[in-house]
Amino acid sequence: MTPILGISGSLRKGSFNTALLKAAQQLLPGAIELADIRDIPLYDGDVESAGTPDPVLDLQQHLSAASGLLLATPEYNNSVPGVLKNTIDWLSRPSGDLKNLFSGKPVAVMGASPGGFGTVMAQSAWLPVFRSLGARHWSAGRLMVSGAGRVFDSNGDLADEQMKQRLEQFVKEFAVFCEG
Ligand code: FNR
Repeated sequence: MTPILGISGSLRKGSFNTALLKAAQQLLPGAIELADIRDIPLYDGDVESAGTPDPVLDLQQHLSAASGLLLATPEYNNSVPGVLKNTIDWLSRPSGDLKNLFSGKPVAVMGASPGGFGTVMAQSAWLPVFRSLGARHWSAGRLMVSGAGRVFDSNGDLADEQMKQRLEQFVKEFAVFCEG
């Protein structure tokens, strides 16, 4: 099975979204490879003209080799978080042989929030982005983790059995979609 690339849109150590991806990784061992976006610079056309920065190139290579992309998105002000949008913008840029990386690429979006709506607005806000990039957005499953402070324990482990089952089903079904 070719791994799915998992990207969390939060840089926070105690991030619920990173914890969600880690829980998915544990539920489906070997299926998900986690990326770190901390070293992705702010997009700057002048920097790009001088050559794609190494952390971007590295992530582009991982995305190119991945069977799909799984985002765990925080919701900021009812929309997508800037650090994650910045990363997707960089990944969408051609560099060398790596072009149109999103074209036909399976993409799924999930997310966690301490609030009551579990990133529903952020997930919707990603739709036009992936549509414009020509990705194969997977919409058969939905995973919105609300009340994240209760769903994860103080170690960041998924403590809610029902949510664990929903996450497992979500990731398993997306993995089948990626292989298809
Ligand atoms: C938030 N948060 C938030 N939550 C939500 O459900 N809807 C929202 O619109 C917002 N807006 C928002 C804006 C900004 C600038 C911040 C910093 C936060 C709260 C957010 O869901 C919370 O901080 C999460 O814990 C972020 O995800 P991680 O870091 O836990 O993965």
